[in-house]
Amino acid sequence: MADDALNTLWLLHGVNLDMLGSRAPEHYGRLTLDELESQVAAHAAGRGFAVRCFHTNNEGDMVEKLHELARVGAAAVIINPGAWTHYSYAIRDALELVTAPIAEVHLSDIEAREEWRRRSVIADLATVRVSGKGVDGYFEAVDALAAALS
Ligand code: DQA
Repeated sequence: MADDALNTLWLLHGVNLDMLGSRAPEHYGRLTLDELESQVAAHAAGRGFAVRCFHTNNEGDMVEKLHELARVGAAAVIINPGAWTHYSYAIRDALELVTAPIAEVHLSDIEAREEWRRRSVIADLATVRVSGKGVDGYFEAVDALAAALS
């Protein structure tokens, strides 16, 4: 594993999360993705991580990013796959290749919404799962990953 990879926490966002700020604020709050990433990066920096962020609306591009992380390594991965959470075995299979600890984070409470959102096809791959806490859920995930790595 490359030295910088060893210390890097990746913050991955999937489909439709670039619409944060204007998308259903009653579920997802009013932060834009840029604002959310900055806040999580600042929090993670305080825990000693270097942070890199990646967003895509294309499933294949997320698969490629996960392959890259499987190849070069990472300290930890936080992923909010958006709707892919509920059905994408392609994302699941690619995530399975990543050896770093994984946190699955959702801004909204996926257990308390529509029936179809309750199912996560990546749940058993995650060391940490947080949902329904908005940006605070990401801070919680960073802290839990830092604790798991210490
Ligand atoms: C989400 C929840 C998903 O059900 C939804 O499709 C999203 C966002 C969340 O952060 O609450 O796009 O992952």
